[in-house]
Amino acid sequence: MSQAKENAALAALDFVQDGMTLGLGSGSTAEIFIEHLGERVAGGLKVQGVPTSKQTAACAEENGVPLIGIDKVSRIHLTVDGADEVDPMFTLIKGGGACLLREKIIAAASDKMVVIVDESKMVEKLGKFPLPVEVDPFGVTLTAEQIYEALQKSGCQNGQTVLRQNKEGTGPLITDGGNYIVDCKCEVIPAPGETAHLLNHVPGVVEHGLFIDLSSVVIVGEPDHYRIMEIKREG
Ligand code: 5RP
Repeated sequence: MSQAKENAALAALDFVQDGMTLGLGSGSTAEIFIEHLGERVAGGLKVQGVPTSKQTAACAEENGVPLIGIDKVSRIHLTVDGADEVDPMFTLIKGGGACLLREKIIAAASDKMVVIVDESKMVEKLGKFPLPVEVDPFGVTLTAEQIYEALQKSGCQNGQTVLRQNKEGTGPLITDGGNYIVDCKCEVIPAPGETAHLLNHVPGVVEHGLFIDLSSVVIVGEPDHYRIMEIKREG
């Protein structure tokens, strides 16, 4: 386990308060957070978690964190999740674990989103990590062509699209929502807002991995310490 991820995950526990409904992110860093959250629950902390993926639900169950379905909550106080890239404005690329749709629904519904990453995820410009776009399987080749055009139009250096395959190598990866993931090799995304806007208008795109104005706290773990960075957001 990476000590840097562990340090970020542990620091995020300070944002958790008794009685909270928590959005539980997906990925290895989020799972470290859930493991430690489970220890706190065993010690008497009362929280309930809304999982962003089936894998996260399994992890929470294993670690004794009580879960509640998204349609049963009226408020999510805090979401703690990882990211694939974070820029200086806390715009994120997410979806490396193919959970971006549920992650975004839950982050957008949360009062606060705390992102936990190691230093390697911090970038000046987004795009080195291929941007995941979740698409309806129907017409995926045509949708991928339109995604490519949207990326070119918004100034991405490249935009080559690749349909993500499952781990077994037997066909396209299917997300928890029953969709495909198209990974876009952008290299640089110079205007994330413009890219997001154009992608939102491509028929067949269910959601994309650009998270804009959603997180207000980023905790960057390093091998022997962590840094907490905060941006004030309206509302
Ligand atoms: C899953 C995600 C993850 O948060 C992202 O891939 C980071 O994962 P890790 O913490 O394992 O580095 O977006 O869809």
